[in-house]
Amino acid sequence: TGHHDIDASALIIEENKTLREPPPSSSLVFGHSFADHMLAVNWNGATGWAAPRIQPYGPLTLDPSSVIFHYAPSLFEGMKAYKDVEGRVRLFRPDMNMKRMNTSAERMALPTFSGKELTKLIAKLVSLDSNWIPSEPGYSLYIRPTLIGTQAALGVHPANDALLFVISSPVGPYYKTGFKPVALEADPSLVRAWPGGVGQYKLGANYGPGIRVQMEAAKRGYQQNLWLFGEEHWLTEVGTMNLFVALKRDDGSTELVTPPLNGTILPGVTRDSILGLARDHVSKKAPIEGLPDNLVVSEREINMGEIIKASEKGSLIEMFGAGTAAIVSPVDRVGFKGRDIQIPAGEEGAGPIAKAMLKSITDIQLGRVNHPWSVLV
Ligand code: PLP
Ligand code: COI
Repeated sequence: TGHHDIDASALIIEENKTLREPPPSSSLVFGHSFADHMLAVNWNGATGWAAPRIQPYGPLTLDPSSVIFHYAPSLFEGMKAYKDVEGRVRLFRPDMNMKRMNTSAERMALPTFSGKELTKLIAKLVSLDSNWIPSEPGYSLYIRPTLIGTQAALGVHPANDALLFVISSPVGPYYKTGFKPVALEADPSLVRAWPGGVGQYKLGANYGPGIRVQMEAAKRGYQQNLWLFGEEHWLTEVGTMNLFVALKRDDGSTELVTPPLNGTILPGVTRDSILGLARDHVSKKAPIEGLPDNLVVSEREINMGEIIKASEKGSLIEMFGAGTAAIVSPVDRVGFKGRDIQIPAGEEGAGPIAKAMLKSITDIQLGRVNHPWSVLV
């Protein structure tokens, strides 16, 4: 990689002279409207990262020969900015997104960078567009850092030119009128990621192929697919979210299970946060209301055989997806080999663990409780 790292102090700001009015919060559709400004940082193999620019949101100009259009050197992050109870702007665990973005860049032979410097620039961007952060509870500004190879050349080799850009989009809560549990289709013939593959990186190329799969599942009445792996039908992820399952054990304890980071699972920030909060509850460092007293937290493999057995025994008590967009997404049904496994989702559409986790995480994100994960901008 080139000599210059990203340097936030070299930032050049070109303010947008035709500011738009953010749409009314009630009309927001995820990722459909974009704030007035974007951040752009060019990279070249000889010189490194150029001076960062904040400029009006608008189209990019790229050669049709740019590698991005041919071999898909593209990766992204998803994070959010929040208006807190006092109207200040906060980010949630930006260091985690920066770390993951660099991991993806390294795998994709795209340039890495200082996560601290990019975080400073993102803070600057969201401050400038802070009128685009909705302040109603559950609303936020979704931030999309993206890195693409732009070199105009058809050779399959590391890109000598790259562009890192950051755009942002005001978004509403996933569930406007209370939880709505989703049904999943688990088709063992479909595979999202495999050992030695790239499922643990947030590459654009991991997402396009899932769209058709979701369309097919939707035709049969399932909102998302449950990605399985291997002959043993190991559970991996839910659509574009990490997976959690709660099981009642014979000794009366409740086990909260999520598949381990074995290379086929995206290391989610929400996943890590839920694990951290659950472990702090177990150790009594920070007990959480609504979580069982005798909770056991497990990062371990779990397969469909175990899910079916637990369902038959009545010990399958909760299942939910976890990701930045929805935070938690309760599951009430899994279709597998022609039959449906019903999962209790509670009277309010979410089980006690999903509900408690959603509350704990949003309390931190909105600064209702003090926590080092929430970073003031
Ligand atoms: N798994 C996949 C495949 C994802 O795309 C995402 C979403 O961003 C997640 C899990 C959840 O990750 P995070 O909690 O960092 O948003
Ligand atoms: C998530 O935040 O959970 C996502 O999966 C984001 C998606 C738009 C890629």
